[in-house]
Amino acid sequence: MRLDKFLSNMGKGSRTDVKKMITKGLVSVDGDIIRKVGFNVDPDKNEICVNGELISFEKHVYLIMNKPKDVISARQDKVHKTVIDLLNGYGNRKLFPVGRLDIDTEGMLLITDDGQWNHDLMNPKKHVSKIYYAHIEGRVDEEDVKAFSEGLILKDDSLCKPADLKILSSGEISKIELTISEGKYHQVKRMFASRGKRVLYLKRIQIGGLRLDDSLELGEFRDLTSEEMKKIKLEA
Ligand code: URA
Repeated sequence: MRLDKFLSNMGKGSRTDVKKMITKGLVSVDGDIIRKVGFNVDPDKNEICVNGELISFEKHVYLIMNKPKDVISARQDKVHKTVIDLLNGYGNRKLFPVGRLDIDTEGMLLITDDGQWNHDLMNPKKHVSKIYYAHIEGRVDEEDVKAFSEGLILKDDSLCKPADLKILSSGEISKIELTISEGKYHQVKRMFASRGKRVLYLKRIQIGGLRLDDSLELGEFRDLTSEEMKKIKLEA
C-alpha cells in the first residue's frame, strides 16, 4: 500500500495533508525518514511513525458523533449535508452511520466501516438498548408510563416491545427519558403519537452501556476507545 494512502486511512489527515507530512520528512518507515509519498509499505510488517509516534494498523474505524439537526444519517444526499460530509474525508474510508437518526434528531451516532459490527448492533436479536431524551408537547403521566411498559400498539397496528419511560418533569412541555430495544422507523415519535402526544425535541443519549460524551459539541466526532467499544455491547 502507498505510504500516503496508509496514513490517510489511519486518520492522520487528508491525502494532501499526509503528502505534506511525508515531503517535510516527518514520516519514517522502519527508522528511515521517507520523503516519497508513493513509497510502498506493508502495514502488517513495517513500523511506520509520524513525528516519532508509532502508527498502529487499525483494520476498521469506529467513531462516535454528536449529530446536529439539519444533517442526515446517510452517506450522500443531493440536498442536505450528511453525517459523512461532517467527517471531512476522515481516513479516506467508506464510512457509514450505524442506523439512522431523523434529520431533526440530535445526539449519539456511531459511524464505522465495519459491516459486521454494524450488523451486530442493528440485529434485533442482540437487543442493544438505546436511550433518548425528549421534550413532549403536553403532560406525560403515569398512564403513559404504564402503556409504554406494556408494549404500545402503533397507529399502523405494529406492536412495540415494552419500553421504559421515565418522566423527568411533567407540564405544558414534559421532559422524559425513554429506553427502547428496537429501532423501527421514527420509533419514538410514533410511540408518543400512539398516545396522542407530539415529540418537540429528540436527542439520543445512550447506546448499549455507552453514554454520549458531553464534551462532544454538536457536529463533533472522535474515535471510540476500546473500553467504550466494550460498553456499547454490555447489554447485548
Ligand atoms: N425515533 C424517532 O422517532 N426518531 C429518531 O431519530 C430516532 C428514534
